[in-house]
Amino acid sequence: MDAVSTITKVDPAFRADVLAGLAAPIRAIPARWFYDRRGSELFEEITRLPEYYPTRTETALLEQYSGDVAALAGTGDAVVELGSGSSAKTPILLRAVEPCAYVPIDISGDFLRDSAEALRTEFPGLPIHPVEADFMHSIPIPEAVADARKLGFFPGSTVGNMVPGTAVDLLRRLKQSLGCGAFLLIGMDRIKDIETLIRAYDDSAGITAQFNLNLLHRINEELDGDIPVHRFRHRARWDEAHSRIEMHLEAVEDVAFTVGGERFSMRAGETVHTENSHKYGPRDARLLLLASGWRVVREWTDPAESFAILLAEAEPIRFAP
Ligand code: AVI
Repeated sequence: MDAVSTITKVDPAFRADVLAGLAAPIRAIPARWFYDRRGSELFEEITRLPEYYPTRTETALLEQYSGDVAALAGTGDAVVELGSGSSAKTPILLRAVEPCAYVPIDISGDFLRDSAEALRTEFPGLPIHPVEADFMHSIPIPEAVADARKLGFFPGSTVGNMVPGTAVDLLRRLKQSLGCGAFLLIGMDRIKDIETLIRAYDDSAGITAQFNLNLLHRINEELDGDIPVHRFRHRARWDEAHSRIEMHLEAVEDVAFTVGGERFSMRAGETVHTENSHKYGPRDARLLLLASGWRVVREWTDPAESFAILLAEAEPIRFAP
């Protein structure tokens, strides 16, 4: 590859996050950088693993309760989905709530276009307004649905990948963007026995390990790195104090490497923290939403109470003691 194409490939935000994250006293790289094309494919594989219960549990909940969502939130709203990805769960909700329009918001233009195309075939006549944006920065609502009442859809417990302060910031901005009278249907993973949690993030086929290690391959490819990937291993651990699964990449021996022209070294056993996946008790979930201006109207869980979908209503702003 020539010098020009190498330069144009580099995402400056990726470079900045990786260099700062590797130099920090507690090394960490934001989880959003997992999702290059290979990472997105591996995540799709994760969602089909026997150990990874969230996707199939949430899908079953949507199949069972989307009719109740429509009865409580009403029909004919504009559905605004955050991080729509491949939008696999979306048709279930759309069939029930008969929206006036669908607005998928995703950072990945490729995924957006593919899923919008598939939905256009399945829902001919439904106006679809894809928005390519990083919802962590802004939640732009297309002019065409400005006057419609909104139903936000934030499935997958993606909110769990944010620390509570960041989650509250996002949910507050979402309330502002969706406006008066909006509803929000959100998926949130529940606290459960640690073994089940660890298995979900350290599966026997090693797909989650590949997903985690793919970040190092991506760094090597896109940031001209020489990280010895085979000298790292995937670690998933439960952090009780923060009520979250943490994923790390652990050096199995002392390593030294270069990324983007800078030198780094790690001792055996040291890690790079790559993801948090927070889990919630029923009251935690309600409190997080309340702190963000959303009041829970109803929630549904599976019989084992391993995952929940919650319908919340934007609380009107009022003076309070
Ligand atoms: C996207 N997100 C909600 C997933 C999770 O469960 O935290 C990402 C994931 N990481 C490892 N497995 C799945």
